[in-house]
Amino acid sequence: YRAYAQDRDEFYYGKFPDHFEWGVATSAYQIEGGWNEDGKGPSIWDKFAHKGRLLGKVTGDVTCDSYHLYEEDVRILSELGVNFYHLSLSWSRILPDGTAGSYNQKGVDYYNNIINALLARNITLMVALYHWDLPQALEDKGGFRSDLIVDWFEDYARICFEQFGDRVKLWLTFNEAYVISFFGYGVGEHAPGVRDPGVGVYKAAHNIIRSHTRAYHLYTNHFKEKYGGSVSIALDIEWKEPLTDSEEDYLAADRAIQFKLGWFGNAIFGGSGDYPEVMKHYVAEKSRRQGFSSSRLPEFTEEEKKLNNGAFDYLGLNHYTTHLVTQSNTTTMRPHYEDDQDIEILNDPCWAPCKADWLRVNPWGIRYILRWIKEHYGNPPIYITENGRATDDSLEDWDRIYYYKYYINEVLKAIRLDNVDVRGYSAWSLMDNLEWTNGFDERFGFYHVDFTSSKRPRRPKQSAYFYRELIANNGFPR
Ligand code: BG6
Repeated sequence: YRAYAQDRDEFYYGKFPDHFEWGVATSAYQIEGGWNEDGKGPSIWDKFAHKGRLLGKVTGDVTCDSYHLYEEDVRILSELGVNFYHLSLSWSRILPDGTAGSYNQKGVDYYNNIINALLARNITLMVALYHWDLPQALEDKGGFRSDLIVDWFEDYARICFEQFGDRVKLWLTFNEAYVISFFGYGVGEHAPGVRDPGVGVYKAAHNIIRSHTRAYHLYTNHFKEKYGGSVSIALDIEWKEPLTDSEEDYLAADRAIQFKLGWFGNAIFGGSGDYPEVMKHYVAEKSRRQGFSSSRLPEFTEEEKKLNNGAFDYLGLNHYTTHLVTQSNTTTMRPHYEDDQDIEILNDPCWAPCKADWLRVNPWGIRYILRWIKEHYGNPPIYITENGRATDDSLEDWDRIYYYKYYINEVLKAIRLDNVDVRGYSAWSLMDNLEWTNGFDERFGFYHVDFTSSKRPRRPKQSAYFYRELIANNGFPR
C-alpha cells in the first residue's frame, strides 16, 4: 500500500492505447419501461416498485421509455461517438416466466432491433445477461436461494447466446454480484427484499458464482469457436484506504476488499476456484462462536473449484468511490455479513460528496484498485464496466466533468505507469434514468431526460460534449 502513494496528484498528459474502447452503460429496468408490453413477464423490480418501495413511490413502468425510443438512444450514442454500448437484457422480456418454455419472440425482436441499429452505426455491444431484474416467477420458486437457479440461468444464457451471439462479442453474466446478494438477499433494501444477512446472503452469492461459471463454460464449449466472443462478470468495488498507518488498519482494508471483490473475484480470478482464505476463516470463526454447526459460508466441491478457476476472458470492474477502513472488533453476536468482517467504514471529509449519498469523489482510488487487481489476479484484461457520479438536475454539470476528467486520467496512469491491462471503459450512464430505490432523484447521465414530458426528450449536458471530445482525442494529448 505504501508504495502506491507516488505521483498521486500529477495530471498525466497522453493518449490511451490505439485500440482502447470507449462506451457508456445503461440497464434494462432502469431505462426500458414497457414493463408489461408485448408479453413481457413481471420482474422482481416491477413487484418491488409496485409495492411503493422506491423513493417517491415511483416505478420503472415507463422511465426513459427506451422500449419505444431506442432509436433515439442509438442516435445519441452515435452523437457521443462511443465505440460500444453496454446494456443489459431483461430476462422476463425474453422468457416471461424465466424458463425456456415461455420464450417470447417479441422480446427477442426488441433486442435484435437495437443490436442491428447499433451495428449499422458501427457501435459494438457489451451485453449483461443480468442487471438485477429476475423474473418474479423464478423468485417465487426461491430465486437465487434455490440451487435450481444455476439451470434456469444456463437455459436463459443459452437462448441469448443463440439469438444474439453472432453480433455480440462482449458478454457479462452478472452485474454487481455483491449488490444482488447483499442488498437483495441480505438487508432486503433491493428487490426481492429478503432480509437474511447471515445465511441467505452467502447462499445467494454462492449460486451467483455457480451460475456464472456454468454460463461461462456453456459459451466456451459451444459458442466460442463459432462467434469468438468473450465472457466475464462485472464486480463492484471501492478502493479501501486504511484509516491509519497501523498494521491492523492495513489488514482491515485488505480484508474489506477480499470480503467484497474477493467474495466473487477470488473463485474466478484468484487462482484457487474458492473463496479468499481470510473470508473463510472469519466467517467460520464467527459462525462457531454463534453456535452454528458449520460455517455460514457455503463450500464449493473440488469439481466446482476447478470450474470456477479461470472462468473469465476479461474482468469487468464497476468502480465509483473510495472508503476509509479501520479495524473494529465486532462484539455483537448477530450473524451478519457486515459484522463478519471486523471492520468499520468511514469517509474522508476531503472527498467531495455528491447527490448519491454513498459516493465520494476520490479519483486516485480507481488507479489503486486497478493495481490491486493486477497484483492479486495476475493482470487480467480489464474493462471498466461502470464509473460515474450523480449531479443535480442541470445541463451545466461541471462537477461531472471534473469527475470524469480526473478518474479517467487515473485509469490512463494505471495503464501507462503501472502496466495494468485496461482495454476499455464504459461510463455510467448514457442518460438520466431510474436509480433503483433512489428513484429519479439521482441523475447520472451525459444526457438529461425530462421525466415530466411524455416524449422523454434527451438533451446533452456539458459533460456529453466533454466525453465526446475525450473519445475523439483518445485521451489527453497535450
Ligand atoms: C451501480 C449500478 O452500482 O450504481 C447501477 O450498477 C446504478 O445500476 C449505479 O445505477 C448508481 O447507483 P444508485 O444506487 O445511486 O442508483
